[in-house]
Amino acid sequence: MSEADNPPAASGTFTVPRHVAIIMDGNGRWAAARGLPRAEGHRRGVEALRRTIRAAGEIGIKIVTIFSFSAENWSRPASEIGELMGLLRRFIRNDLAELHKSGVRVRIIGEREGLDPDIARLLVEAEELTKDNDNLTLVVAFNYGARQEIARAARRIAAEVAEGRMKPSDVALETVARFLDAPDLPDPDLIIRTSGEQRLSNFLLWQSAYSELVFLPTYWPDFDRAALEGAIREYQQRERRFGGLVAKTGS
Ligand code: IPE
Ligand code: IPE
Ligand code: MG
Repeated sequence: MSEADNPPAASGTFTVPRHVAIIMDGNGRWAAARGLPRAEGHRRGVEALRRTIRAAGEIGIKIVTIFSFSAENWSRPASEIGELMGLLRRFIRNDLAELHKSGVRVRIIGEREGLDPDIARLLVEAEELTKDNDNLTLVVAFNYGARQEIARAARRIAAEVAEGRMKPSDVALETVARFLDAPDLPDPDLIIRTSGEQRLSNFLLWQSAYSELVFLPTYWPDFDRAALEGAIREYQQRERRFGGLVAKTGS
């Protein structure tokens, strides 16, 4: 049975979103507000991430997707990019064993080509070590851009057609979905963005078609279990109609 077949977990009378995606934004502004270097905001952001993964597991969320580095973030100063890459390396080295012990499966979406070989190796190691875990799936969007992901899918579908394995008329919505980076995962029920910005910044554009969006003023380093629960309560007030006339649960 794939994850897509599981009904969303019920908590009391309310439905806990099965898949929550988070745009972890506001590290730099958190630091600036305290007169600290942006790097300190990123370091505190990693602590917020640890809290969030723990809380998500306890709440009964099955999939958490985090936007950790966008395809467009390469336009930042080299020093900040170096800092962010260092944090990713340290996060995998220090936290992987603990995540594995708690039954977290780590998956990565985004472009792998062109990454530093040591980072590419760490990503594979994280996925390999945890591939049989099923308490919580942590999807890390790294070097990720949604338009790039859709373009990659289009290139692969075009190759199938060119090689005669598929006809243009075979290309349905499900076909496109099948060629995305994590085709077996259900779409996010809820997307949270911290820091007060109200945009998707090239995150999960295909998968967010019917996601509920919650924008919080909190800067990411201040995010905690209470903030996550607040966003879930907001989600629970929403009526998801998927174009129809009656409310439905989950995708
Ligand atoms: C989010 O915080 C982390 C990444 C984008 C990697 P920012 O670094 O974007 O912080 P702000 O938005 O400048 O405050
Ligand atoms: C989105 O945040 C990317 C991540 C959180 C990793 P940005 O800070 O890069 O987005 P913009 O530039 O404000 O849209
Ligand atoms: Mg930002």
